Amino acid sequence: MTATPSTAGTSGTSGTSGTSGAADGAGAPATAVHRTEPVEGRLLRTVCGLFVTGVTVITSGAGDRLEGTTVNSFTSVSLDPPLVLFCLHKASRLRTLIDRSGSFVVNFLAGPQEPLARAFAGRQTASVRDVPHHLSADGMPVLGDALAFLACRLENEFDGGDHTIFVGRVVELGVPREHQEPLIFFRGSLGALEEEPRGTHPIFDG
Ligand SMILES: Cc1cc2nc3c(=O)[nH]c(=O)nc-3n(C[C@H](O)[C@H](O)[C@H](O)COP(=O)(O)O)c2cc1C
Repeated sequence: MTATPSTAGTSGTSGTSGTSGAADGAGAPATAVHRTEPVEGRLLRTVCGLFVTGVTVITSGAGDRLEGTTVNSFTSVSLDPPLVLFCLHKASRLRTLIDRSGSFVVNFLAGPQEPLARAFAGRQTASVRDVPHHLSADGMPVLGDALAFLACRLENEFDGGDHTIFVGRVVELGVPREHQEPLIFFRGSLGALEEEPRGTHPIFDG
C-alpha cells in the first residue's frame, strides 16, 4: 500500500466554516483546514482514516455461540499489568457475548486475510464456526492463520459515546507463524504491506 498526499473530506460537508490554502513551501501541497461545529461524523471518520492501523477480529462466545467482529480500534495499554483495549459500537452483537463470558480474543489479521476482515465487518457476519479456529485455555475462539492473538479476560468497561471501551487483561498470547505481513487499514481501504521494514535496531524496545 503506497501513500499519496491528498486532503480529506473537502466536499459535501456541512458546517465547514473555513478553508485555508496556505502552501507549506514551494511545491508543497496546500493544507486544508476545516472548522466544523459540531464535528460531523463522516468527516471525523475520513480524517481518522489517515491514521494507519492494523486490523483485528475480536472473537468471543459461550457454548454454541461463537462470534467475531472486525475492529481497528485496538491499542495496547499497559505492560504491568498486561492490559489492552478496543472500542465496540453499542449495537454490536458481540457486546453481550463478552459481558456473559467475561473474555475475548484479539486476532491480528495477516495480509492475506482481507476476505476474513470483510466477512466479519457486516451485520450478517460470518460464523466463527465456518473458519479455521481453535479454543484458548479459557475456551475463547482463536482464528487460525492470524498474525498473532491475545486472549483476554474482561478487566473493565467504560462508556465511550456510541461505543463501549473494553479493557482486557492478557492471559494467553501467541504468534502462530513468524514473519507474516499484517493487514492494514488506511484511508478507508484494506491492504497488505508491500514491504516489511527490517531494521537491525528496533526503534522502540521498551
Ligand atoms: C477495517 C474496519 C475496522 C472496524 N473497526 C471497528 C471498531 O473499532 N469498532 C467497531 O465497533 N466497529 C468497527 N468496524 C465495524 C464492524 O466490523 C461492523 O460494524 C460490525 O461487524 C457489525 O456488526 P456486529 O458488531 O454486530 O458484528 C470496523 C470495520 C472495518 C471494515
